[in-house]
Amino acid sequence: MKASIALTPGDGIGPEVVNEARLVLEAIAQRHGHEFKFSEHLLGGCAIDARGTAMPDDTLAAARAADAVLLGAVGGPQWDDPQAKVRPEQGLLAIRKALGLYANVRPVRPYPALARLSPLKAERVAGVDFVVLRELTGGLYFGTPKGRTQTPQGEVAVDTLVYTEGEIRRIVRLAFQMARQRRKLVTSVDKANVLESSRLWRKVAIEVGREFPDVKLEHQLVDSCAMRLITHAPQFDVIVTENMFGDILTDEAAVLAGSLGVLPSASLGEGRLGLYEPIHGSAPDIAGKGIANPTGTILSAALLLRHSLGLEREAREVEQAVNLAIEEGKHTADVGAAHPLTTAQMGEAIRERLDAGEGAPLSRHQD
Ligand code: IPM
Ligand code: MN
Repeated sequence: MKASIALTPGDGIGPEVVNEARLVLEAIAQRHGHEFKFSEHLLGGCAIDARGTAMPDDTLAAARAADAVLLGAVGGPQWDDPQAKVRPEQGLLAIRKALGLYANVRPVRPYPALARLSPLKAERVAGVDFVVLRELTGGLYFGTPKGRTQTPQGEVAVDTLVYTEGEIRRIVRLAFQMARQRRKLVTSVDKANVLESSRLWRKVAIEVGREFPDVKLEHQLVDSCAMRLITHAPQFDVIVTENMFGDILTDEAAVLAGSLGVLPSASLGEGRLGLYEPIHGSAPDIAGKGIANPTGTILSAALLLRHSLGLEREAREVEQAVNLAIEEGKHTADVGAAHPLTTAQMGEAIRERLDAGEGAPLSRHQD
């Protein structure tokens, strides 16, 4: 097949990890006779420096015209001034919103070879296999009014948590559809004992649940969910939640996997166009050193193959190759290897194992 993939490497380690993922995609294209066309675009801090805006119009236009977007990371200390009018993160939020990518899929399935990295006891992590569906274009991140004003009492700041029934319904429905392909349990996370928006969320979740009698629905308050992620994580299957709750819970969930560096994500909307990015940040402290872990981005490329290009077999091939590389002890510095591989060596180790992944029956990140 022919596909066009827009790359937004972004800041910090973004360009290094995106480069490895691109090489993996090129290897896949060659192995299966596909034609992938890549183009590179500015997003985040690098766009602020070059254009004065975190999401230039031509980046958005290129993303819209592409079949999928692969993103590295945005941000860094040089753009962190709290007084700044433009921030790299605005680019990320703007592109998610403009492309209508309301569903952020974050699978969490720790690798046994990395279990020692988790601060949790092995028995708390064994068997963990869930996916968090984070609502991505609504809630506290986007609600209005939003802003700061001077008043006689001093400065006042406001953020608004707002959801329409429709916004809740579409993400919860996706959660049920996913659960149907998995262990048939949806955990809807809210703060319904306090927030009105959560009480609507819960009502809609119950309504949608009636369409899926074969899937069990449970409700959990976000604070106790944060605790249960540490105490009973293997119980979860599909977690669905509000934008900021999902942001916080997925960083916590990454602790189960041992390293932020290995977790991918997909942001999906109504059509096939999706945006794929590792869940880690731009790691400015190690940028340019060639030691970042490219695994999260390579697994994000696998999600891209699956969700935007419909290439399930190829996606599994990549996931299986990653699996093999990690289990065979191919590790970068972040996962505490005695003789750590560089970013390029890790990418190479994964590409060398694509053969072994061919026709793989089982995928680790099938979500
Ligand atoms: C994430 C990040 C972003 C978010 C930031 C960088 C805006 O933390 O993708 O989880 O909060 O969504
Ligand atoms: Mn986050």
